[in-house]
Amino acid sequence: MAPLTPLLLRYLVVILIPLFLFSSSASAWKKDEFRNCNQTPFCKCARTRTPHSLPRLIVSDLLISDGHLTAHLQPSLSSEDDVSAGDTPHPRPLVLRLSVYQDGILRLKIDEDYSAPSAPSKQRFEVPDVVLPDFEDRRLWLPRVSSTEDGSISSLYLSDGFEVVLRHDPFEIQVRRKRSNDPIISLNSHGLFEFEQLREKKEGEDWEERFRGHTDTRPHGPQSISFDVSFHGAEFVYGIPEHASTSLALRATRGPGVDHSEPYRLFNLDVFEYLHDSPFGLYGSIPFMLSHGLKGSAGFFWLNAAEMQIDVLAPGWDDSAAAGNDRIDTFWMSEAGIVDTFFFVGPGPKDVLQQYASVTGTLAMPQEFAIAYHQCRWNYRDEEDVATVDAGFDEHDIPYDVLWLDIEHTDGKRYFTWDRVLFPNPEEMQKKLAAKGRHMVTIVDPHIKRDDSYYVHKEATDKGYYVKDATGKDFDGWCWSGSSSYPDTLNPEVREWWAEKFSLKNYGGSTPSLYIWNDMNEPSVFNGPEISMPRDALHFGGVEHRELHNVYGLYFHMATADGLLKRGNGKDRPFVLSRAFFAGSQRHGAIWTGDNSADWDQLRSSVPMILTLGLTGISFSGADVGGFFGNPEPELLVRWYQLAAYYPFFRAHAHHDTKRREPWLFGERRTALIREAIHIRYSLLPYYYSLFRKASISGIPIMRPLWLEFPEDKKTFDNSEAFMIGEGILVQGIYEEGQKSVSVYLPGEQSWYNMRNGAAYSGGQTHKLEVFEDSIPSFQKAGSIVPRKYRFRRSTTQMANDPYTLVIALNSSLAAEGELYIDDGKSYDFEQGAYIHRRFVFSNGKLTSSTIHSASLREKKFSSSCTVERIILLGLPSGAKKAVIEPGNHETEIEPGPLTLRGGASSVALVIRKPNVRIADDWTIKVL
Ligand SMILES: *[C@@H]1O[C@H](CO)[C@@H](O)[C@H](O)[C@H]1NC(C)=O
Repeated sequence: MAPLTPLLLRYLVVILIPLFLFSSSASAWKKDEFRNCNQTPFCKCARTRTPHSLPRLIVSDLLISDGHLTAHLQPSLSSEDDVSAGDTPHPRPLVLRLSVYQDGILRLKIDEDYSAPSAPSKQRFEVPDVVLPDFEDRRLWLPRVSSTEDGSISSLYLSDGFEVVLRHDPFEIQVRRKRSNDPIISLNSHGLFEFEQLREKKEGEDWEERFRGHTDTRPHGPQSISFDVSFHGAEFVYGIPEHASTSLALRATRGPGVDHSEPYRLFNLDVFEYLHDSPFGLYGSIPFMLSHGLKGSAGFFWLNAAEMQIDVLAPGWDDSAAAGNDRIDTFWMSEAGIVDTFFFVGPGPKDVLQQYASVTGTLAMPQEFAIAYHQCRWNYRDEEDVATVDAGFDEHDIPYDVLWLDIEHTDGKRYFTWDRVLFPNPEEMQKKLAAKGRHMVTIVDPHIKRDDSYYVHKEATDKGYYVKDATGKDFDGWCWSGSSSYPDTLNPEVREWWAEKFSLKNYGGSTPSLYIWNDMNEPSVFNGPEISMPRDALHFGGVEHRELHNVYGLYFHMATADGLLKRGNGKDRPFVLSRAFFAGSQRHGAIWTGDNSADWDQLRSSVPMILTLGLTGISFSGADVGGFFGNPEPELLVRWYQLAAYYPFFRAHAHHDTKRREPWLFGERRTALIREAIHIRYSLLPYYYSLFRKASISGIPIMRPLWLEFPEDKKTFDNSEAFMIGEGILVQGIYEEGQKSVSVYLPGEQSWYNMRNGAAYSGGQTHKLEVFEDSIPSFQKAGSIVPRKYRFRRSTTQMANDPYTLVIALNSSLAAEGELYIDDGKSYDFEQGAYIHRRFVFSNGKLTSSTIHSASLREKKFSSSCTVERIILLGLPSGAKKAVIEPGNHETEIEPGPLTLRGGASSVALVIRKPNVRIADDWTIKVL
């Protein structure tokens, strides 16, 4: 009985804190907790401004310096303006800088002129550590600027076929196609650019802002920035996560036909029970938007970590002739910071993603176990519970790779500690999992319990490593651990210190198979304004929290990932899941969509949310299977597993108050269905791992909107229900209870093979299909080859030596191609060439396997004795009887067989059994 009392106490604390915070009802989004645009002065004011109502901005003093173009920017002072300006001081000119980078990237920076005589003493915050360190190496040296004769316009070379046009009066930037002069993206075409310069406080002026009993002292006064950006030739815009939405394309937030919508808000918040469709901000922010249409794609990124609000404007918002202008106008507002913006010319959507990736980086290649199935719950109670759940997977023949422990595993929410009653032998527990090739993840949040006997708190206090409040004392807020302070991870020294906490020596009870989860890093502060940190809190170098709020979570994530890297002396790839994120978070680990709910609409919105993350650089993401809050009906849970098996990050998770929902708790039939869903993911791991590798090189996401693969097919542009995995697989979710049929649009001219039964469907058409209980519709594209592994083990680690199956879907020219990437799944040796990368091509009745070399850098080698045990051919006219394997001139049978090993599947495929060629070797197999 002994453990019961502390358990009960813990339970009460957990229950009571949320009740106290979210008072009355426990089941609704608390809209009033969060500011809307009208309650946010910079947003309210900017949003009411009409086009060209501000004094005209004029560009002067153009100069090419150091290969950049610099100029001054200031409002025109017509005699009329002079009068109305009254006693407002003459504004200092702003400094504008244009730089051009390889592959069609323009960077525009606008900031105060700190060298001016009346310059502000405080520097505005410029976000460090997000732009890749080597980005500057890609800058093109601007030799000169060519201006028109009357001096009204200057233009710059941007890349082949593209140029930048800078209009001087009024100021406007236009990126356009050179030959046709067609604009692609422009800034300030509507004269909405405004930059509130830092200034002295006037007599009697009140800079404070109040919201729900919180006062923001705003010691530096108003400093917001806003401007309009137009995407020309665009039919849709996408991006700017994170918002919950059932639509991938961003809907208009203002203008004709839009009633009282909020702008899209980018402000990292811990939102309790978020809605499935809302422009309000969630846990992470990426101020990157991309446009797409038949004329091509373009992108725009504003590197700014303060609160941002973005309007997508409906045609006619500016009272111009409404319809038919193939252009999407947007309006960007930020509370602070500087203008540091990047324009990407495309012209294809993948070009835009690669251009964005060249600025903010690509995803860090994860270990293989991390892309398999994860089992999580708040909370697995104790070691016995862990052992029982672990054994449950084996008993029910369901593979899984990682078991997660939420906050209750700690000693009183002191991270890096264990509740020694519930978890007396954490090392042994982890070793038992590791013996089956499994891993464990524990949670480590940024709120540090203010307890003098807690070493982390003591060190942070002594070293002055916490974020400070506006008065300069350690900021003290309320979170899971009660009274808490937050490490100031903006400071590199603090990150260093934080990283050390993860060493095996410092983190008692940890083993090399333990990985980490960062939650609540928006940061969440239960008693703070909007459940976060006050904006006037102070960080390293006097930076105000308002200036970096959206990047706080990234720094914490970064420091944690560095900790795991150091723990293994840089040998093993870290795994850290984070809830908060910013542009560049992809370099530090995975992201999930936070505390969703167990309902069908949230299942539906998970797809556009994950697709949007992928488009904005974060390829490794997923949503909690089953929904975090509430109890999913078994049918919903099964459908969720069937969909989530395709998410890049695949984890089940559930709230403390929900019923247990391990896969085998819903009867034999449902256990079988969930097992099948998880098996599909495990069978596709070779394909997924190859796609992760590709994403880590190119920035092209794993899970993709259809239009990324079919950019010229208009019917795909607004599809939010189906998605591609790589180039070869299309998946359609089932988002309704009891759904009997579904319409699936299959793009392209080639056909598609149903992965359930091998049936062929023609492309470029919508097919109405019967919906089955055992799977959601998925299709392999004709012309693709997908490598799979069909033997089921307990975990990925145990699959390493298993043989492969190649599934070849032939197109009308009886051809197909695909790739396979393999390495040790764990270390960084692949960076020195220790990998196998194969290309498979089927044409003229012959399958060829050849290596994709990077001839350079082969300091280390990776070898594999894996073989191919089966080749499945879809779309080959029957009649083929045997196959000849070279080298060796060895013959093997071809026979009809099922597409998958699922019982009862129709057999329309031909199977080459046991070719037994080695995956690492060159060979050909000729079909006779
Ligand atoms: C068939 O697929 C091959 C390989 O992907 C490709 O090169 C070829 O153009 C495709 N043919 C047709 C008709 O789509």
